[in-house]
Amino acid sequence: MTILVTGGTGNTGRPLTETLRARGADVRVASRRPGPDGVPFDWEDPGAYARVLAGAEAVYLVPPPLTPDPMPMAGPFLEAARAAGVRRVVLLGSLMVPRGAQGAAELEGAVRSFPEWAVLRPSGFMQNFTGAHPVAVGIRERGEIRSATGEGRLGWIDAADIAAAAAEVLLAPGPVAGDQVLTGPESLGYAEAAAIIAEVTGRPVRHTPAPVADLVRRNLDAGMPEPFAAALAGVDADIAKGSVDRVTDTVHRLTGRVPRSFADFARARREEWSTT
Ligand SMILES: NC(=O)c1ccc[n+]([C@@H]2O[C@H](COP(=O)([O-])OP(=O)(O)OC[C@H]3O[C@@H](n4cnc5c(N)ncnc54)[C@H](OP(=O)(O)O)[C@@H]3O)[C@@H](O)[C@H]2O)c1
Repeated sequence: MTILVTGGTGNTGRPLTETLRARGADVRVASRRPGPDGVPFDWEDPGAYARVLAGAEAVYLVPPPLTPDPMPMAGPFLEAARAAGVRRVVLLGSLMVPRGAQGAAELEGAVRSFPEWAVLRPSGFMQNFTGAHPVAVGIRERGEIRSATGEGRLGWIDAADIAAAAAEVLLAPGPVAGDQVLTGPESLGYAEAAAIIAEVTGRPVRHTPAPVADLVRRNLDAGMPEPFAAALAGVDADIAKGSVDRVTDTVHRLTGRVPRSFADFARARREEWSTT
């Protein structure tokens, strides 16, 4: 079976590709810079959708990034997938769909119309605390996480656990899994996450409240386009209300392994927060 992995160089796509290849699947990595074994693919180039999809039987779909409405690109892409004979689509959705986000329901509807489909709804990625993400930058530069989440908690998940679950769903011999909420093993607020990073690194890290408008500015400064920057900042309000404070056993049920804890992740990635 040929599996097309969109976002195949990203947080979930990279470990997913490794797992699928290790298990003998024929994987086609698709992104703008896919590496030597991949196919160049840009969401902004709809004329290339059919070429990228030709011969694929299954698709791992990471929606077009940095836009609150995926449908202008994802809609035609899924039509091209259907025309190419794709049977199975596994969508990387989210437990935290920004309020008022256009197109999320339509995208899921389009995915559900395939003979075999699954929508993975992960909680917040532990990877948000690493790399160029504004949360990670704040920790490195000021020992500070600014958010409007208050005491709100969520079940932070390692993207590698999402990838492991996605691999099981993509490779399942029979009908696949439908809707799956994926979380890590525990629900933590930013204050608790900050305390864990402080303990692991030996440097102070605090959580400070910030108005949503400040977070929108921070996201814009990080290079996000305006509607997306606002939608992402708005997610904090949902977290504050407790609407994503949940932990599921889905990763364990699908993969047979317990998802990684935040403390374990922080220990493994402590260099991320080094100031030198
Ligand atoms: N972060 C969270 O807490 C969280 C929580 C729940 C759900 N999610 C969902 O996860 C998804 C994004 O995850 P992420 O932020 O970790 O990103 P990511 O998957 O690490 O990176 C984005 C991927 O998309 C590719 N890409 C970027 N622009 C592209 C373009 N124009 N055309 C084709 N490919 C492109 C990138 O590769 P190239 O640069 O090579 O193109 C990369 O492989 C979103 O759909 C989000 O809703 C995130």
